[in-house]
Parts: sequence; structure tokens; C-alpha cells
Amino acid sequence: MLSLSDISAAYGGFQALFGVSLEVRAGESVAVIGPNGAGKTTLLRLISKLIEPTQGTISFQDNSLVHVPPHQVVGRGIAHVPENRRLFPRLTVEENLRMGAFTAREKYQERLSLVYELFPRMKERRAQPAGTLSGGEQQMCAIGRALMSGPKLLLLDEPSAGLAPVVVQSIFELVRKICREGYTVLIVEQNIRQVLKVVERAYLLEAGKIKMQGPSQDFLRSEEIRKAYLGL
Ligand SMILES: Nc1ncnc2c1ncn2[C@@H]1O[C@H](COP(=O)(O)OP(=O)(O)OP(=O)(O)O)[C@@H](O)[C@H]1O
Ligand SMILES: [Mg+2]
Repeated sequence: MLSLSDISAAYGGFQALFGVSLEVRAGESVAVIGPNGAGKTTLLRLISKLIEPTQGTISFQDNSLVHVPPHQVVGRGIAHVPENRRLFPRLTVEENLRMGAFTAREKYQERLSLVYELFPRMKERRAQPAGTLSGGEQQMCAIGRALMSGPKLLLLDEPSAGLAPVVVQSIFELVRKICREGYTVLIVEQNIRQVLKVVERAYLLEAGKIKMQGPSQDFLRSEEIRKAYLGL
């Protein structure tokens, strides 16, 4: 479904990614793990066309994304939940969800029901300003808003960031649920142990390069990963 081939990216004179290749198949859940500054967010920003690669190609459903402007990416079926969530704090939960559905007015009710089914908490809080939600609820709302566009591919940038451990647990339960629903998910996480238990496959990104890839089980068993990232 998604294919990145030999992608490099730079911010001014600073090169953030070096010849990265990555694939996500339809229905698959894939994680990109790695330390701070490895280039994980950069990778998602490239897929959303928020930045342009200096080298390499990105294709989605067999079409090149090279000439697709960022505002058309959602219409192609890619929904991106960014690191900082970017909700509209004064708008209610339901108004925020509605903002995610701008590409498909006719499907609005159907998708809203689906989101409320996945996240009953959002239904309870639907009339509450998003800015007054707890951190975990805000993350739910941001993911719900992304699902309102009816995406084929969901990009999640550190959904557990800044949340208390018990809330992190519930966010991963949600991500697991979304993967089970058959959504195709590419997730970036620093909460490595948890994310590896949820996704099928993973890539390790270090200093802008892919250092390892394979089934999550291989990562969980790898001596190197266990030492460097799982503290074992
Ligand atoms: N707009 C920018 N201008 C200059 N350098 C940038 C910019 N955005 C990111 N970088 C640099 O690119 C590198 C990769 O950043 P990126 O945000 O992709 O890392 P990350 O893996 O998502 O890290 P984190 O886990 O901390 O979110 C970092 O060294 C960062 O400082
Ligand atoms: Mg990041």
C-alpha cells in the first residue's frame, strides 16, 4: 500500500534521513522505533507531504506521491495524527471530530457512530471543549478525528507521548483495537516494548538510517534490542 524507496531528507544543511526504504502492506500494522532525533517524525512528515525528500520516491496504492500537494493527501486516504495532537481547544469534541470529516459530508453520521463505538468516552464527552479533556482523552479525540476522514492509512506519531503510565496502557489498547478493525497503521513510538506487542512488524531507525526490520517478535527476542531499548 505504502512504499518508500531510498528516501533522504534534510533541513537546510542538516541531513535527517539517509536512503530509507520502508513498506506497509494493506491491513498491516507497522511501527517505526528509535531514539530521540532519529528521524521518525520526519518520516511521517514526508509521507504527508509536509516536507519534500532530497532523494528517493514515495508511492501510495501504486501512485507516486511526488506531485501531490499536502492538502490532497487526506483525500488520497492518508490521515496523520501529529506529535502534538493539534486539536481546536475551544471547539467541542464533536466539532473537532467533524473537522476531520471535511472530505466526506455524506458519510459523516456513519463515521461518527463508528468513532463513538470505538471510543465510548468520546461520546460521553462530545459536548465538552476539547481543551478541557485529559491528555489521554485528547489523544483519543485526535485519533478519532483522523478516523473521521475514512483513511486507508493511519499515521500515528507517538500517541503515548506525555501520558501517565496507566493512560499509556489504555492508548495502546485503543491502537490494538484499531489495528484489529483492519485499519492499516504506521505508528512511531518511543514506548518500544508496548508498541512491539501491538504491531505485526517494525523498523528500527537510528540517526536517519534503518538499522533493523522484521516481525515484532524478532525485535522482542533480539539481544541488541533488549539491551539497548528494553532495558533487559
Ligand atoms: N524544522 C527543522 N529544522 C531543522 N532540523 C530539524 C527540523 N525538524 C527536525 N529537525 C532535526 O532532524 C532530526 C530528526 O528529527 P525528528 O523530529 O524526525 O526526530 P524524531 O525521531 O521524531 O525524534 P523524537 O523521538 O524526539 O520525536 C533531529 O535531529 C531534529 O533536530
Ligand atoms: Mg518525533
